[in-house]
Amino acid sequence: MKSTKIARTLDELRLHADAWRDLGYTIALVPTMGALHEGHLKLVETAKREADAVIVSIFVNPLQFGKGEDFDRYPRTEEKDLKKLRAAGVDLAWFPTVEEMYPEGFCTTVHVEGPAKAGLEDAHRPGHFDGVATVVAKLFIASGCHVATFGEKDYQQLQVVRRMTRDLNLPVTIIPVPTVREESGLALSSRNAYLEPGQRETAALIHAELRRAAERLKQGVSAEAVAFDGRQALTEAGFDVDYFAVRNAETLQPVKDQRAEPLRILVAARLGDVRLIDNIAA
Ligand code: PAF
Repeated sequence: MKSTKIARTLDELRLHADAWRDLGYTIALVPTMGALHEGHLKLVETAKREADAVIVSIFVNPLQFGKGEDFDRYPRTEEKDLKKLRAAGVDLAWFPTVEEMYPEGFCTTVHVEGPAKAGLEDAHRPGHFDGVATVVAKLFIASGCHVATFGEKDYQQLQVVRRMTRDLNLPVTIIPVPTVREESGLALSSRNAYLEPGQRETAALIHAELRRAAERLKQGVSAEAVAFDGRQALTEAGFDVDYFAVRNAETLQPVKDQRAEPLRILVAARLGDVRLIDNIAA
């Protein structure tokens, strides 16, 4: 098993990252909020193929949680996470502190429009993407990473990070990684830990509905009808649906020419008080 180094302060992080850069190594960053599962390990596996040294950051970022969201109860499992990172051969586990990430008087944020204003997650989680874009920019700058991996599970986040990286000319290549699923189709997520055993089967219906929607789009059914029926089906199955949308896969804006545009189907729905998101290409 590889000896995974640990950094908690920015000085500790820079000590390692600077030394790697001096040696001419390329660095991959895998930004996470911890509670690591197979999906995160896929991000690590991809990062290892893309660079000489891999840093995994674990930071439950207060800036991206809204009032009444699950910041306090978000699972924090540092020891278990470290064990997984060691087994995965990660070079550095970085646990930034709130005090250093958001120093006294902090008042600078990164605000993205375009894919961050698509009426999807942004409509239900105001300020969320400002929090994500700000922390991701800070993680990129502090680590000096050359590449970073992001899961397609958080598809809007992936598009926001791509846009932000391009707009700020950050020299980081963003590598998207396909969603890892349970056999039932349920997308792996740290928030699945909140699901009661009986809810897991119902939760898997999200993926089944997404696949049905993709199939119908291929048959030529209109994006509006597919989105309407998808929402209806999940509502009937007991979900409280925030959105079931067919969008342009790059801009995330509503589809204008269904046959010419790349399409993505995106869903957010609640089962009890557990909010689940998922998406697939169409
Ligand atoms: O996807 C996540 O876990 C978070 O949004 C991220 C990218 C680590 C930023 O806090």
